[in-house]
Amino acid sequence: MKNALPVNANDCVIQIEHELSSHDLFYGHGTDNSWSEAQWLLTSVLTSDGVEKITAQTCITAPQMSRINELLAKRINDKVPLAYLLQEAWFAGYCFYVDERALVPRSPIAELINHSFEPLLKEAPETILDLCCGSGCIGLACALAFPESRVILADISTQALAVAEINIKRFGLEERVSVRHSDLYQQITENFDLIVSNPPYVPQDEYLALPHEYLAEPALGLVSEQQGLGIPVKILKETGAHLRDKGLLILETGYTWPDLQKALPQVPFLWLDFEEGGEGVAAINSTQLHEHFQNKN
Ligand SMILES: C[S@@+](CC[C@H](N)C(=O)[O-])C[C@H]1O[C@@H](n2cnc3c(N)ncnc32)[C@H](O)[C@@H]1O
Repeated sequence: MKNALPVNANDCVIQIEHELSSHDLFYGHGTDNSWSEAQWLLTSVLTSDGVEKITAQTCITAPQMSRINELLAKRINDKVPLAYLLQEAWFAGYCFYVDERALVPRSPIAELINHSFEPLLKEAPETILDLCCGSGCIGLACALAFPESRVILADISTQALAVAEINIKRFGLEERVSVRHSDLYQQITENFDLIVSNPPYVPQDEYLALPHEYLAEPALGLVSEQQGLGIPVKILKETGAHLRDKGLLILETGYTWPDLQKALPQVPFLWLDFEEGGEGVAAINSTQLHEHFQNKN
């Protein structure tokens, strides 16, 4: 943007939005439109520069404007998700650290966490597993929602776990939350009241056709064999053995959910509705998992 300074925050956000919407960009990594992304970019630059209260009249300084232009150029030219450029992503009301080692948090499960999984959970869970944790956003937001709980964040990627560890420290949760390097349940010996999982579920051929922004993310976090169903089905088969009595699995399979339901027509998935957008998240309890998957591995 070429501005004659001074410019205020109101004019600046309008100009950022104009720049973003004039280019062929995809929104789906923390925002779903150019206006929200413009606000996020400006707010992040100002707050990281020590501005505590931002109003429409807040004056943008020359160094702030040059930082905004630098970020805009990378967003537009490289089509990198803004979350990676800012190294932050908002999830369930909390600001997480992110970088290219882990997926950008965006699961609709945030809405369930903000409602403490009511009415699905009758009691606060004491033990929680975030399987396929990436940045740890789901498990850590659960730990914050249930202050008495103990949480394990598990992932096959040591790189993603390094990001999760940064977030454990960021929220001061070292005493209650730990990471576990595991291929699904291979290194998990414990049982849990609540298991939450947002695993990879994108079919390989569809991955190759995704907008450029997704290619900045680790493919390991997105792609699953068997037309996207391979990992979700493995999780369904193995979870019963790791849930306590009355335990609950929350499993996200996104837009592939009709395929999963079609592949397993007898399984009584409860597909959840979201006020804030999103689809393909199922609740299924330990009794149902035992009934439909025990001894069928
Ligand atoms: C869709 S990302 C979700 C990350 C995080 N839960 C979130 O919502 O942002 C899926 C994660 O699963 C991990 N993953 C892929 N295959 C796995 C496996 N076999 N066992 C454990 N984790 C796996 C990836 O490394 C990635 O971090």
